[in-house]
Amino acid sequence: MQIRSSLPLPLTYVADLKTIYVIKKQFSEGCSVNNLLTLNNGSQIPSLGLGMWKIEKPILPELVQEAIKIGYRHFDSACDYGNETQVGKGIQSAIKSGFCDREDLWITSKLWNTYHAAKHVRPALQKSLNDLQLDYLDLYLIHFPIATKFVPFEHRYPPEWFFDPDAEFPKIEINPVPIRETWEAMEDLVSQGLVKNIGICNFNCSLIRDLLSYAKIRPSVLQVELHPRLTQEKLLKYCHQEEIAVTGFSPLGAESYYSIGMAQPEQSLFANAVIAQISNAHKKTPAQIILRWGVQRGTAIVPKTSSPDRLRENYGIFEFHLNDDEMTAITALNLNQRYNDPGHFCDIAFNTFFPIYE
Ligand SMILES: NC(=O)c1ccc[n+]([C@@H]2O[C@H](COP(=O)([O-])OP(=O)(O)OC[C@H]3O[C@@H](n4cnc5c(N)ncnc54)[C@H](OP(=O)(O)O)[C@@H]3O)[C@@H](O)[C@H]2O)c1
Repeated sequence: MQIRSSLPLPLTYVADLKTIYVIKKQFSEGCSVNNLLTLNNGSQIPSLGLGMWKIEKPILPELVQEAIKIGYRHFDSACDYGNETQVGKGIQSAIKSGFCDREDLWITSKLWNTYHAAKHVRPALQKSLNDLQLDYLDLYLIHFPIATKFVPFEHRYPPEWFFDPDAEFPKIEINPVPIRETWEAMEDLVSQGLVKNIGICNFNCSLIRDLLSYAKIRPSVLQVELHPRLTQEKLLKYCHQEEIAVTGFSPLGAESYYSIGMAQPEQSLFANAVIAQISNAHKKTPAQIILRWGVQRGTAIVPKTSSPDRLRENYGIFEFHLNDDEMTAITALNLNQRYNDPGHFCDIAFNTFFPIYE
């Protein structure tokens, strides 16, 4: 079609060239180098990170150390996960044991909804830095385009979703802070040397377009839910056009959501015929195929696991390559199925209807 010929190269093609380059680089350096994505300011983020959501506190310090020994250099943390102190212990033990230096690591954290007002942004970051025992973050993300009423640190931390969980009818209490105010405070963190990169999570194209109209520092990264059931191609194409790298959360799809009643085991992709066939062809596990698809399409991914064996399994995705037909077949599994949707979970779990994507 006429229109098609005027479009830039398809995202998967561009991403694939980049991946081939980094894979070659990795092999030439003895597989010790993590696959890297270059951001719009020249920073490089490892395309595979370890997600921290729902990892139990007692096992976390040891797990972070183990991940670093395996080769992980990117850790995806957040105030809301309630375990940054344990993440910090793991990082510090690994550094003290000589497994890595601080500069080798990419540490992401996220600004929680209660701290969107400009005066709360720096204290919120400082609390995360203190818990993580760090003096700077590699990336600080606005966790949701949702601003809720402030809860003092000493009153409850992390504050989570309810303003007053002990109220007779607890609800989410909205605080009408414009995203511009929050973003400008995030920009100040960069000029103060506390954060190297800033970005956003769970923003759609229109919110990003608006933010770009005033941003003095453009977001380096957008983090959103991405997996073969939610491929979000238009959003990826828009971010590619605006030079915003994308990190996929919940890259395994339904797996993360059974334990919290937000998905059913029959929604798992692991037994899907397309994934199973590609998994057999490469002698790789279904999880490795799904994660490989994620990095090969040019996104970073942050799979979570509490298991040292799965840490190793999930790290083993840089030693094989999916061909174009396999990439296309996995992308065709898309159902626009979002598991992490405030428009759904705020209603059923937090007594407040709060859609953000509609
Ligand atoms: N920005 C946001 O709003 C947002 C939202 C959600 C998540 N995130 C980030 O993204 C990270 C990843 O997302 P997620 O935790 O929701 O989902 P995920 O990483 O796609 O899936 C995690 C689930 O898959 C299992 N798993 C991991 N590796 C496996 C393997 N090789 N084989 C079989 N099962 C495996 C894990 O179980 P085991 O632990 O038992 O291995 C866990 O139940 C989070 O930890 C968090 O850092 C961000």
